[in-house]
Amino acid sequence: MEPSKEYVFSHKGFYFGANIATPEYIDSLETFEIRDSDIFIATYPKSGTVWTQNILSLIFHEGHRNGTENIDIMERIPWLEYNVQKKDYSAFPSPRLFATHLPYYLTPRDLRNKRARVIYVTRNPKDVLVSYFHFSKIVATLEEVSDFNLFVERFLAGKVLASSWLDHVIGWHSHAEDFNILFLSYEEMKKDLRGAVLKICNFVGKTLSENEVESVVRQATFENMRKDPRANYENLAEYLRGQNKGHFLRKGTVGDWKNMMTVAQSERVDEVLKERMKTLPIKFIWDINDEM
Ligand code: A3P
Repeated sequence: MEPSKEYVFSHKGFYFGANIATPEYIDSLETFEIRDSDIFIATYPKSGTVWTQNILSLIFHEGHRNGTENIDIMERIPWLEYNVQKKDYSAFPSPRLFATHLPYYLTPRDLRNKRARVIYVTRNPKDVLVSYFHFSKIVATLEEVSDFNLFVERFLAGKVLASSWLDHVIGWHSHAEDFNILFLSYEEMKKDLRGAVLKICNFVGKTLSENEVESVVRQATFENMRKDPRANYENLAEYLRGQNKGHFLRKGTVGDWKNMMTVAQSERVDEVLKERMKTLPIKFIWDINDEM
């Protein structure tokens, strides 16, 4: 079943959110002017994008770290392809920070020439699927599919915003050499947040003091982000359905899929993804007790 045109449009083999982007704008990104100092977070939805945005913002903005500035994460690190407020990114001071769900082949040309830095975050697809299912219920700009079984099929067929999880992840991994890229996983961030923060600092060339690192880690935990209106979508209430304000940070765990999927559904996901997943140089973590 095709996704509803009310919510997505297909352009160059990828589903974009309707009303928040246009094909012309997406095409214009090919020649988007990249600065060497730019940093992009690239993800398939529900893989830990906002988490990584928060970490990056905490690393770069002292005012965020010490609580003197009350600027939303989305303002700090805007969405490249969903520039709803039509901001002039060329006027942004360096280093500019962006988030994107673009597949590798639709990113700005210079990014594919190794200019700027990209942090690509993956998460195991069963947790992505379950998180996406819940997210579609609360976000007004996404099509709600209330039957979970149907959603599983939609997800596996890539009939959702951002298309196929597998194509996205394999695409970025198999073209890693075109980019200046750091791969991280949601699960490693969950198991060792401090280690992930240090990896990011190292990759972006930022040296923080022990106290500053400690402050970033503390403010990037699930519990603390949940309380932080700058990070939990509280100010984006206009995009949420019903009384879901602040529910963006849902569970924040590894392995929640086990609470949601039947054995048959889990096997169905394995069956569809398994072969091509083997080509990925990633060891997926399905349970918090799995070894890294
Ligand atoms: P769940 O729905 O499983 O809770 P994205 O930002 O790419 O849309 O990803 C959203 C997922 O990341 C949600 O997963 C959300 O709760 C989780 N998340 C956000 N901040 C987190 C944090 N600090 N720690 C752990 N998970 C976090």
